[in-house]
Amino acid sequence: MHFGAIGRVPGDPILGLMEAYAKDSNPQKFDLGVGVFKDEQGLTPIPAAVKHAEQRLLDRQTSKSYVGGHGDAAFGRLISELVLGTGSPLLADKRAGATQTPGGTGALRLAAEFIAHCLPGCGIWLSDPTWPIHETIFATAGLKVSHYPYVGKDNRLNVAGMLAALEVAPVGDVVLLHACCHNPTGFDLSRDDWHAVLEVVRRRQLLPLIDFAYQGFGDGLEEDAWAVRLFASELPELLITSSCSKNFGLYRDRTGALLVCTHDAEKLLDVRSQLALLARNLWSTPPDHGAAVVAEILGDAMLKKLWSEEVEAMRQRIAELRVGLVEALAPHGLNQRFAHIAAQRGMFSYTGLSPEQVGQLRERHSVYMVGTGRANIAGADAARLGALAAAIADVCR
Ligand SMILES: Cc1ncc(COP(=O)(O)O)c(C=O)c1O
Repeated sequence: MHFGAIGRVPGDPILGLMEAYAKDSNPQKFDLGVGVFKDEQGLTPIPAAVKHAEQRLLDRQTSKSYVGGHGDAAFGRLISELVLGTGSPLLADKRAGATQTPGGTGALRLAAEFIAHCLPGCGIWLSDPTWPIHETIFATAGLKVSHYPYVGKDNRLNVAGMLAALEVAPVGDVVLLHACCHNPTGFDLSRDDWHAVLEVVRRRQLLPLIDFAYQGFGDGLEEDAWAVRLFASELPELLITSSCSKNFGLYRDRTGALLVCTHDAEKLLDVRSQLALLARNLWSTPPDHGAAVVAEILGDAMLKKLWSEEVEAMRQRIAELRVGLVEALAPHGLNQRFAHIAAQRGMFSYTGLSPEQVGQLRERHSVYMVGTGRANIAGADAARLGALAAAIADVCR
């Protein structure tokens, strides 16, 4: 018997939360747990641009033979332009390239393998807190994982603490930064903060790995890429992980890319040869469907316009829910206390509610959010913000 000593590990707490929510018979329940965008009806829609692109592919596609190790070349070019900007000098100079991956998670996994195999001795610095999967991906690849302060117990962004920690990070280490819409907190760096981080990164010769999972959900498709493009133009080397799960609504089609920027075109070829080899051992060749959809959309002016408008509508819905929730808290005298919810970006909010209050919200009001007080604001609906605010007020008494 080989399996006798194998024990059971606890499941992902967010999936447990989803199950508990599904079982709750209260028709007025709220799912603020799982990290997917929802519309006013509580559905996670397929964008119309995606449907159009899928129809075209269905009509046109004649083969499902493998794509290459880096994926579809058109997807690679178009996603690089989306992230780095259409006129990026890096693309013109062939100093940047994308490897298609199964989602943003696949891009992070490939980045972790790349660091472990090709940059031996480099540790990685993660924000405290960060998306929990960051912790396990890099530790599993065998990297030394350290943390820089980001949001403290006072539920405020701690830029001074972040800079001080990076200032003493070993020279040459990798630092993971969230491009926008920080998961789990919703607190993003200001442009001045990004410039300060850039200076430390330069001084300590750190290699930034920028996780870009929410392009378009913060301030806009172009605006959200500002920090990524700043770092790409100012630094000789950069890693970027891009996810098409949220902004294209392609969650289960597993679509993403690892972008690499190098100081010259020859070095890009060296790095990409290593990435293809590493990817071959992970998933051999990437899944095609989602990337083919993205290439179809980004390569067609009409579909790109339609998609950009759909992303903008998703972004606006989240922004309006944030402002609306703070306004709905005003009659309870809580709008100052929760003003940060309107200032945060993306779907997630560190509300500042304690684990006890989160438990009470669930037991008394069927409001489901993660124990840390992280709420997916996109899971709320504008019509019931008053009820949500009343529930929050009840547990804050
Ligand atoms: C910060 C962050 N990075 C990366 C991802 C990866 O997303 P996916 O693998 O679904 O594309 C997510 C998804 O929740 C995320 O929140």
